[in-house]
Amino acid sequence: MTNDGVNWQYSEKVKEHFFNPKNVLFDDPEPGQFDAEGEVGSPACGDLMKMWVRVENGKIKDLKWRTFGCASAIASTSVFSEMVTGKTIEEALKITPQDIIKELGGLPPIKIHCSVLADQAFKKTAENWKKSKKAL
Ligand code: FES
Repeated sequence: MTNDGVNWQYSEKVKEHFFNPKNVLFDDPEPGQFDAEGEVGSPACGDLMKMWVRVENGKIKDLKWRTFGCASAIASTSVFSEMVTGKTIEEALKITPQDIIKELGGLPPIKIHCSVLADQAFKKTAENWKKSKKAL
């Protein structure tokens, strides 16, 4: 491999979540299974992320996701789904892409935007959840 100045190393935790992603949803959910969903595309690479959330007693009970994104997006969203479970929506909204990257033990610099995809998808999902609450 040529040394082009890029760090190609993935942390063990990135590899663990990439090879065994948590809370990924391959099939479309059943009607009523979730309280809200959100979808975003990454301006940096064009990849897509879809997310679903179920909130019980004010806390995130279930957060599922699906992406066309890369290994870093898969690992980022997998670890994010574990970080937010049990938190309120407001607490989860405070988690930044930097927190996700720290939890993963780092990401190659050219892959930082992949963690932003998880963050943006959650923001969209939370926004839709809030709207659905107002509609009740
Ligand atoms: Fe598109 Fe990572 S390159 S999500």
